[in-house]
Amino acid sequence: MDKPLIPEYLMDYLEGLVPSRPPEMQAMEAYAEKIDFPIVGPSCGALCYQMARMTGARRIFELGSGFGYSTAWFARAVSENGGGEVYHVVWDEALSQQARRYLEPLGYNGIVRYQVGEAVEALRKTSGPFDLIFNDINKEDYPKSLPVIAEKLRPGGVLIVDNMLWHGQIFDAANKTPATEGVRKLTQMLTSDPGWIASLIPIRDGLMIACKK
Ligand SMILES: C[S@@+](CC[C@H](N)C(=O)[O-])C[C@H]1O[C@@H](n2cnc3c(N)ncnc32)[C@H](O)[C@@H]1O
Repeated sequence: MDKPLIPEYLMDYLEGLVPSRPPEMQAMEAYAEKIDFPIVGPSCGALCYQMARMTGARRIFELGSGFGYSTAWFARAVSENGGGEVYHVVWDEALSQQARRYLEPLGYNGIVRYQVGEAVEALRKTSGPFDLIFNDINKEDYPKSLPVIAEKLRPGGVLIVDNMLWHGQIFDAANKTPATEGVRKLTQMLTSDPGWIASLIPIRDGLMIACKK
């Protein structure tokens, strides 16, 4: 795609509606911008936070957590919901350590459970149920993650998946990369299985929000 999917003025408008974040979160946003690291950003982060608050989530599992920006939004929601757990799972030890350094001054290290390893395997080995699961792993692995997610999410629980527009690559019929096919396949799985209620929200790179019936 030559043109950005979401016009810049619209993204700027949406991000301008998000109340200002604590300095540590602003530092994470600036760092992601500087090194071009793909975080969910303020508008999707705020929607994740809102979903977690609306559902009163106390146990959240993140697959593919990076240096903890999305984790900060979820940990804030869980803290305001009365406390609980947010699993931060990434396979890079350095990112896990970096997340600890960012999240500690925010006061979230008592809530966040850090795991270093492959995220789908980590979820498989962790006792459920979870109220909310957030998926941001490599896109080719999206389809294989769904059965494990479905097993660990409580009925009525919420699944949020990032990058479901995949920078517009899903619209290019000639694009058959494993990542693009992974996004297409998960979209089809979530929207055709009667066990899920799913909507694709076209902000930033597309957030799929699904509820397990
Ligand atoms: C898109 S970034 C995460 C951004 C984060 N969710 C945020 O918004 O702040 C995904 C991270 O997860 C890691 N990752 C990708 N697939 C993974 C997997 N299957 N298991 C563990 N980590 C994974 C990547 O190396 C990267 O550091």
